[in-house]
Amino acid sequence: MNESVNINWYPGHMAKTKKQLIEDLKLIDIVVEVIDARIPEASINPDIQEYIKEKTKIIVLNKADLADENITQKWIQMYKAQGINAIAVEANSGKNMQAVVNKIKEEYQKIKEKYIQKGRIGKAIRVMVIGIPNVGKSTFINSLAKRSTTKVGNKPGVTKQKQWIKIDNNIEIMDTPGMLWPRLDNKEYAMHLAFCGTIGESAIDNEEIAYYLLEYLLNNYPQTIEERYNIDTKNKETMEILEEIARKRGAIISGGNINMQKISDIILNEFRSGKLGRITIEIPR
Ligand code: G4P
Repeated sequence: MNESVNINWYPGHMAKTKKQLIEDLKLIDIVVEVIDARIPEASINPDIQEYIKEKTKIIVLNKADLADENITQKWIQMYKAQGINAIAVEANSGKNMQAVVNKIKEEYQKIKEKYIQKGRIGKAIRVMVIGIPNVGKSTFINSLAKRSTTKVGNKPGVTKQKQWIKIDNNIEIMDTPGMLWPRLDNKEYAMHLAFCGTIGESAIDNEEIAYYLLEYLLNNYPQTIEERYNIDTKNKETMEILEEIARKRGAIISGGNINMQKISDIILNEFRSGKLGRITIEIPR
């Protein structure tokens, strides 16, 4: 893998993002971290626990429509075994969003009891959605907003631009998501984020991403590749297969050479849009 896996998270940008997050978290009782069901390890932010402290956290494995259902269930069981709430959803179709609302309500009951014991009665529970870019945070909030009857405006004591979406008498969701920084300490995770289009294409070359994605798929989902591109992959090198796919798809430039850019884009788009089927890149260890 190329050594040049570096991303557009400049120190200044990162510090500003963290500062805003820490500020917003002061208003929050329950945190919903949205991750990508295809890459739960690479898309989660391990640093965030330090800031969330004892606040309740719910993990949402979004884009479940693109992931292998059985593996998603394994992830959920793994989180459960660790005492972590995790729910798989499809934020863009709204599938299973009600389960998240129910879980928030359930957690709200627990928090409410603590509040009552402390003499804090009648205060709404506030929820914030956080996650790295492109996991579907905005789609998730929009889906919740559609179910909501009221948009709560600015309230005294709350930073001016904060808007809250009311999903229950006592539960409000911050309408802007909290941005987390992707974990880029690990090259394997960086590549997985790139497969899913989560880190910018300026960070890693598209042709390189597509090559490694194809290699991953040949090792883990060979039948999918054989069926989709109508080729035999046995005893062939990744590059040989890539060339074969390029010829089948007409990604050829004059002189009969492969148009690497074109075939790379085709493979990445077909994976990212689910045309290759439901594929999970990371399996619980
Ligand atoms: P963000 O706020 O975390 O940055 O993510 P955002 O909601 O903008 O979503 C990023 C992309 O993921 C969007 O696609 C969105 O439609 C897609 N997405 C969100 N939830 C789901 C889901 O459950 N399943 C699938 N398959 N896709 C989902 P886009 O290509 O950037 O835009 P568009 O296709 O919506 O125009």
